[in-house]
Amino acid sequence: MQDDKQGGLEMSPQEMRQLASRATDALIERISGLDGENAWDGEFRQVLEERLGGPPPENGQPAESVLELVLNDVLPNAARLDHPRFFGFVPSSPTWPGILADFLASGFNINSCTWLVSSGTSQLELVVVDWIRDWIGYPETAGGLLTSGGSTGSVEALVAAREASGHPIRPTVYMSDQSHSAMKKAALIAGVRREHIRLVPTDNDFRLDMDLLRAQIAEDRTSGLHPMAICANAGTSSTGSIDPLQELCDFCSSENVWLHVDAAYGGFSLVTEDGKKLLEGIQDADSVGLDAHKWFFQPYEAGALMLKNGQHLENVYAIDHDVLQDTVWGANHPNFADRGQQLSRAARALKIWMSVQTFGMAKFRSAVQNGLDLARRAGQYVRDSSVLELMTPVVLGVLCFRVNPESEECDEASLEKVNREVLVRVFWDELTFFSSTSLKGVFSLRLCILNHTTTWEDVRETLDLVSQLGREALSEA
Ligand SMILES: Cc1ncc(COP(=O)(O)O)c(C=O)c1O
Repeated sequence: MQDDKQGGLEMSPQEMRQLASRATDALIERISGLDGENAWDGEFRQVLEERLGGPPPENGQPAESVLELVLNDVLPNAARLDHPRFFGFVPSSPTWPGILADFLASGFNINSCTWLVSSGTSQLELVVVDWIRDWIGYPETAGGLLTSGGSTGSVEALVAAREASGHPIRPTVYMSDQSHSAMKKAALIAGVRREHIRLVPTDNDFRLDMDLLRAQIAEDRTSGLHPMAICANAGTSSTGSIDPLQELCDFCSSENVWLHVDAAYGGFSLVTEDGKKLLEGIQDADSVGLDAHKWFFQPYEAGALMLKNGQHLENVYAIDHDVLQDTVWGANHPNFADRGQQLSRAARALKIWMSVQTFGMAKFRSAVQNGLDLARRAGQYVRDSSVLELMTPVVLGVLCFRVNPESEECDEASLEKVNREVLVRVFWDELTFFSSTSLKGVFSLRLCILNHTTTWEDVRETLDLVSQLGREALSEA
């Protein structure tokens, strides 16, 4: 019989241990067996609806059966983003301490909203934010918070930019034609009209064209618009290209326009010397968004938003509320809810802190460097190949290339057909997974090489495979 005082949602310690142990075993089995699995799996809706649909049951079923259903039919139907041969979109391979941190934070039921509610993880957030501040090269006055990712961070940045510029009535925001859709969404949410989001063309290397930006801003000022912010790229997701950051910083400060750097993809390359050189200038931007769930090996969601002047965040987001009046702990005890949109917040700092404490920065640095090195080596492979063509310079971890044998005279339409065919065959038949992009309208295959488990053999065999499938597709065309 159920105790009257309880809602019936508890489990005995033994049941909890058994379930957790089964879940842990399944996770370890999955992670250690990834190599032999396909890098992608998925299922059609009709099939999944039959297995997983239906109204909520009035009475529960054994927890083990629910867990088995999840382990068999839900979780495996997903891209294995952490597979050594997952090169599509932006991969991510979380460390085990990071995974455990999310589990522990859930179990301790942490809400990292205020110092009063969770001082331990608030302290860790201070520490992690300070690490990131240092990696960017920001001054002590900088500040920030951990966010769900690049999308929400850029909304918070552009709202701060809007408030710092006096909430103009006719604001405009500028970004390159390669910028992530998240920047456009952020500008819209910050109150910029769709037609006032300016997509500035890029040069042949997909970097924002400064002359066209200057001309556009001058024209907008003449028409009575208020240039409010520029979103620069520190690693576009399509090609890895980096906008001229230092030039942009100088220009923005002379024009009194906020510079936000979208470093969601490329930002954590800053922990390496190579990355620091590539992103030179970032330290002068007004705000920077970076994703630890991309190139810093954390489970989703782990973004960071940093402002050169941290106070701008609290100017916007610290809003008194009667029911929270007891949460003011006093000077030097920040409430992270006062720095961004969310009140209830996950303890994102815990995973970053635990994994860095466990492995140390030397290992993190070499894991990030591994992606940079493998991508460069892949670039050389493609340059040396008589079947493949390099489509863009290799920047950060991205390789854009296609099948285009020197010995064949192919027009653009047939090249696109052949390369699409290669992509489809890899998708359905092979262990490896990668995706494509469009380079000013030209179809390109694309590898994004970030996972810390990826080796040169993984990359080389994938490129060998593309060459072989490309030759076959051409001979069948
Ligand atoms: C360059 C860039 N900016 C922004 C985003 C959006 O970030 P998130 O998915 O963390 O919201 C991404 C995601 O891939 C990205 O690559």
